[in-house]
Amino acid sequence: MKVLIATEKPFAKVAVDGIRQEIEEAGYELALLEKYTEKAQLLDAVNDADAVIIRSDIIDNEVLDAAKQLKIVVRAGAGYDNVDLEAATAHNVVVMNTPGQNSNAVAELVFGLLVFAVRNFYNGKAGTELKGKKLGILAFGNVGRNVARIAEGFGMDIYAYDAFCPKEVIEAAGVHAVDSTEALFDICDIVSLHIPATPETKNSINYEMVNRLPKGGILINTARKEVIDEAGLIKLMEEREDLKYVSDIAPANADEFATKFAGRYFATPKKMGAQTAEANINAGIAAAKQIVGFLRDGITKFQVNK
Ligand code: 3PG
Repeated sequence: MKVLIATEKPFAKVAVDGIRQEIEEAGYELALLEKYTEKAQLLDAVNDADAVIIRSDIIDNEVLDAAKQLKIVVRAGAGYDNVDLEAATAHNVVVMNTPGQNSNAVAELVFGLLVFAVRNFYNGKAGTELKGKKLGILAFGNVGRNVARIAEGFGMDIYAYDAFCPKEVIEAAGVHAVDSTEALFDICDIVSLHIPATPETKNSINYEMVNRLPKGGILINTARKEVIDEAGLIKLMEEREDLKYVSDIAPANADEFATKFAGRYFATPKKMGAQTAEANINAGIAAAKQIVGFLRDGITKFQVNK
């Protein structure tokens, strides 16, 4: 059996070593395709793979057609919007993710970006502190919960909304549970997005929603660029010079944001949320274990295309 790691954005070396150990101890072979620049390289590499470990790499119908022996794809990470689940199912390929494994890394970056934002991107002028500010967490999943834990250390007043998580669970974490996304934007000085990109959430963070933020509000996005209605956000930021937008996923219109909103917009050059050795080790080794568990014992826990 051949397991391929196909990562345009590579794992830390120590994580690749750990994955290799898991795969080879199970008696399988490991192949590595890192930093590829053309889809053709991926199409070629998947040709004889039985299993593939990916990150944000695109697995579409063409890739699945090329992967004649493929049985399982594991997205080493949380969001699997980069995998065509219907096409995978049609090709009889199991798709899994590794929920929770990189969530602390993403949550820590939220605060790296927030301190940077409230201190005016380190321009030397007096900024503000996070202590005492109202933080809204949109979706109380693995990342949202870690954000809440860290926010407590900063002395923030923490609110959350999650359409699928009971209020009691949110309250039990010492967080105020609110009834809607609208309420979160109405109440909070800062809103941090932790929703997946789905047909329901795409473009859901729009002009009307963000305009609910109080004066000086900050929107922080370490989730997906697709959840933002960019045209609406641009229009709003043109009208409201008090708002800031910081993101770990460059918008499709990154140049326009950078030109129009200098001093109140920042995006990391490459998505950095999960780029820590720890997150790579956790997610990468979890992916390897899940592949071995599936190929050897048929375990389908974490399958997302059931
Ligand atoms: C995830 O969904 O797990 C994060 O967005 C991390 O994505 P990455 O593996 O491409 O860094």
